[in-house]
Amino acid sequence: MAGVIRIIVVVDAGADRNAVEAVIPAAAGVELLSVIEGLNNGWQEAGADDVDAVLVAAGPSPGAALGFTEGVAAEYPDRAVLLLHAGAVNGLPRRALEAGAEDVVTLPVADGEPPSPADRDRVSNELLVALEKGIARRRRATDGPRSAQGRMIVVIGPKGGAGKTIVASNLAVAFAEAGQRVALADLDLQFGDIGLVLGMPPAHTIYDLVMSGGSLDAEKLGDYLTTHESGARVLLAPARPDQAAMVDVEFLRQMFAVLRATEDWLVVDSGPGFTPEAIAAIDVATDICIVGTVDAAALKNTKLGLETLDLMGVDAGNVKLVLNRADSRVGISPDDARTITGRAVDVLIPSHRDVPRSANSGRPIVMAQPGSEPARALRSLAESYMGGEYSRPRPLKRLLGRTR
Ligand SMILES: Nc1ncnc2c1ncn2[C@@H]1O[C@H](COP(=O)(O)OP(=O)(O)O)[C@@H](O)[C@H]1O
Ligand SMILES: [Mg+2]
Repeated sequence: MAGVIRIIVVVDAGADRNAVEAVIPAAAGVELLSVIEGLNNGWQEAGADDVDAVLVAAGPSPGAALGFTEGVAAEYPDRAVLLLHAGAVNGLPRRALEAGAEDVVTLPVADGEPPSPADRDRVSNELLVALEKGIARRRRATDGPRSAQGRMIVVIGPKGGAGKTIVASNLAVAFAEAGQRVALADLDLQFGDIGLVLGMPPAHTIYDLVMSGGSLDAEKLGDYLTTHESGARVLLAPARPDQAAMVDVEFLRQMFAVLRATEDWLVVDSGPGFTPEAIAAIDVATDICIVGTVDAAALKNTKLGLETLDLMGVDAGNVKLVLNRADSRVGISPDDARTITGRAVDVLIPSHRDVPRSANSGRPIVMAQPGSEPARALRSLAESYMGGEYSRPRPLKRLLGRTR
């Protein structure tokens, strides 16, 4: 699940494992991956990819736990280390912070008796806040300026009405919900409707950006992006078709580069077919998502689209095929689709009345009806992209909002 804080607990000799487990926040946002007894055994798991925070439970003599804290904090600067201890040890909080712990939490103690539920809840809350703050601080400290360029996904499709805009908008929102930095650019320059399906008030558009003149940098571009409630930053299409002509390909190339320097993902929606904008985007994209529908004529055009990508030198491994409006009643199965298009279908999105309904109400279906089948399919598309080198999402961004 996106938005979860994944923690491990490493229990030093002499520390009370049960007392620690009793205060692990039961909130849906926290997932306890494992409890490990013995500092030596904790090393490896502290470095596992999916860990956001390491809780170190110190015993009455905390020296070794402090050493462990220092080691983990130095070795894995992108995760928060918290020290937990019972009872007062002189100077422990200061020493823990010096060792690199993000925070120190005192476990409830009650002379031989189990601590009261109220005490447990209080400490549990304290721990949750310490986790959220600590992880946010680690993120800010290690995020820094991006060195690599973000991935760029261009959503194309041979004809209008296939569902390109639904796919592009929900894909961007799904990335944002998974804590990723994402920009969505509407390059259906004449009839773009990303603003409409995302319920965004008419604001600056790409046309205004072009007309503003001057050089294009991240700060300038930022002034023309509208932030969606999911956190995705959107560059809207011109308000009128006649304004489209002002947006040239050279400008787009610069814009792609600037956006990819600041975002993890740049999702581009396009008009029907291979427009000059789409071609310029495909030229520099890392990924193409071709959206077709499940009927014989559309599938034939999708096949032609795939062949055109091949002629343009796009590696087939970077192309995903999405079939939208899949409906058992049309008499074409995914297998037939594979036969006609000559390749496997990556994601099948069922036809569902909640799709136009959510678009009409300006709330993307992954937010409006997250449990619906089309929303699941769209999220699985986003996950299929994040699966590879982006396997470690940054869930805290979602909990805490973007830090920029
Ligand atoms: N899976 C679906 N089920 C039902 N309606 C859909 C589905 N996908 C898209 N639609 C509807 O079809 C229309 C066209 O979709 P859109 O994404 O705007 O297509 P495109 O951008 O390719 O022109 C919209 O009204 C949309 O709500
Ligand atoms: Mg569209």
